[in-house]
Amino acid sequence: MCGIVGYVGGEDAAEFLIDGLRRLEYRGYDSAGVAIFGDADIAITRSVGRIQSLADRLGTPPPGTLGLGHTRWATHGPATEENAHPHIGGDGEVVLVHNGVIENYQALKDGLIEKGYQFTSATDSEVIAHLIAEGLAQTPPTDDQPHARYVTAVQWAIGQLRGTYGLAVVFRDKPGFLIAARFGSPLVIGVGRGEYFVASDASPIAGRTDRIVYLADHQLAVLTADGFSVLHRDSGKVRVNIQPLEAESGEVSLNGYEHYMLKEIYEQPDALRNAMRGRLNDQDATAVFGGLNLTPQQLRSVERIILTGCGTSWHSALVGEYMIEELARIPVCVEYASELRYRNPPIENNTLVFGITQSGETADTLAALNETKRKGHRTLAICNVVGSSIAQASDGGVYLHAGPEIGVASTKAFTSQCCVLAMLALYFGRTRHTSFETGERIIEDLRRLPAMIEQALTCDAEVRKVAEKYQSASNVLYLGRRYNFPTALEGALKLKEISYIHAEGYPAAEMKHGPIALVDADTPSVFIMPRGTTYDKVLSNMEEVKARGGPVIAIASSEDTEIRKIADDVITIPEAPEFLQPIITVVPLQLLSYHIAVLRGCDVDKPRNLAKSVTVE
Ligand code: F6R
Repeated sequence: MCGIVGYVGGEDAAEFLIDGLRRLEYRGYDSAGVAIFGDADIAITRSVGRIQSLADRLGTPPPGTLGLGHTRWATHGPATEENAHPHIGGDGEVVLVHNGVIENYQALKDGLIEKGYQFTSATDSEVIAHLIAEGLAQTPPTDDQPHARYVTAVQWAIGQLRGTYGLAVVFRDKPGFLIAARFGSPLVIGVGRGEYFVASDASPIAGRTDRIVYLADHQLAVLTADGFSVLHRDSGKVRVNIQPLEAESGEVSLNGYEHYMLKEIYEQPDALRNAMRGRLNDQDATAVFGGLNLTPQQLRSVERIILTGCGTSWHSALVGEYMIEELARIPVCVEYASELRYRNPPIENNTLVFGITQSGETADTLAALNETKRKGHRTLAICNVVGSSIAQASDGGVYLHAGPEIGVASTKAFTSQCCVLAMLALYFGRTRHTSFETGERIIEDLRRLPAMIEQALTCDAEVRKVAEKYQSASNVLYLGRRYNFPTALEGALKLKEISYIHAEGYPAAEMKHGPIALVDADTPSVFIMPRGTTYDKVLSNMEEVKARGGPVIAIASSEDTEIRKIADDVITIPEAPEFLQPIITVVPLQLLSYHIAVLRGCDVDKPRNLAKSVTVE
């Protein structure tokens, strides 16, 4: 994970570095640091905690027109000042920031220690800094090509690394000069006028320049205030493709809300309107997607769909499986991206692979898509962040247009993903079995969604009372069936990640095959049971929990008056067609975890140990 930034140009670097790190804080917030190359020396400042702690420690930043910055999510070594970046190589001749994981770092470290290099951190990244210093020691200076020695040293060093890296490095003896390199961890170069930027993604660069270069794996960029060039690690200069920067700017203030998570929960009606805007076609009773890049022939010949993603995005893939199989009758297989990459399942021709991701930067999802693409399959992204690595790497896709999601716990991205998947189910369905009338009905239902979410949000005060009652629980079960089984998983994940209460989601009927053993007076069960096909069955499961003394909370349809006779607490949501229920039932679950986390004094927007974007495998 981690976020890196770099600057070389005519202005003081510090302002860009700190502002850029704030925008990359979603990638990790254990510790942070900057290196600023002043007149005589490189000043390094590091701090444990958030970017604000670093800014406070920096005070009035030292002047300097070359610099690096880093925000860390610890992989090797705890979150301490020693382990914070930038790291120093040799006797201080190399200063480096790194994002990624070096798998053979221990062997490299042992070799460097034997050569006399001294390590001050437990990180894998410090190994790269010393390796580059060793590379410099092995490469004599030349007069005719002043940059060549530094480039050769970096090439030599990265040639020995096994793992992933996005890195930026400056050299004590080479003012005004920066090298960036990428393998497996994204890196972009912002091309300004007389100034150049390096960053883990486009967000720090948006607003500074509108021209961007996405470095590819094995590429290095050499930057000075006068220009830049891109080289392949082994084969010399490559042609640079400067692209217009498309990053969407969005509302990133709290807008009166106490936390981003709450704000984003309340933004869901608008997020869904944006996801649907221009995509519902009444004339043909179908959905339209400009970016899928599929010919009508390709569309009709799709025989199977794989949906892959991680965490919450994997949950929306499960919802998508129900939707696409039911509405479009195309077999769907849902894969954890982290497993898909290494499982090597047989994938038939005419299979479409969708990577679902809010950030577009999740390393496992990117790797799974690249792996399936390598095998000749069409890979598409359902993604929120415009211009992100996964959006770039896919053959096409659908943007969510949900706006920036800042809270680490995903909320509006989940409902937007489900909404896009419902539209895809309609789109695929209308090329085969779905009739015009059914298409019209689906469109009508989709159009009602934002209002239904608005109505679901009115349960907030009721949910807060339930949260007060159960805030001290140590375990919570979430149970639902069919479309509401993925919602049960999502409700449990939300509670775990922000309130640190252990929670499990299960298909309600599976409960009696094991989890029911957990039921006691201190273990509440949340039943997600709006009216629908399996309502009566889930009701029986609820009775089974009650019979064993377990407290029961029901998320039920507003018209369901009977449920109050059985459940201890009832939170009502508007009636909705079954295929759209998960988009609505998740709202009270998001609010429940939010209120419990607030009541327990947890850091809702930046929970411990997590990061918004998981850029390591
Ligand atoms: C949970 C959460 C994570 C992400 C997962 C995938 O609230 O946010 O589980 O869903 O890390 O992230 P994206 O969707 O960015 O690929």
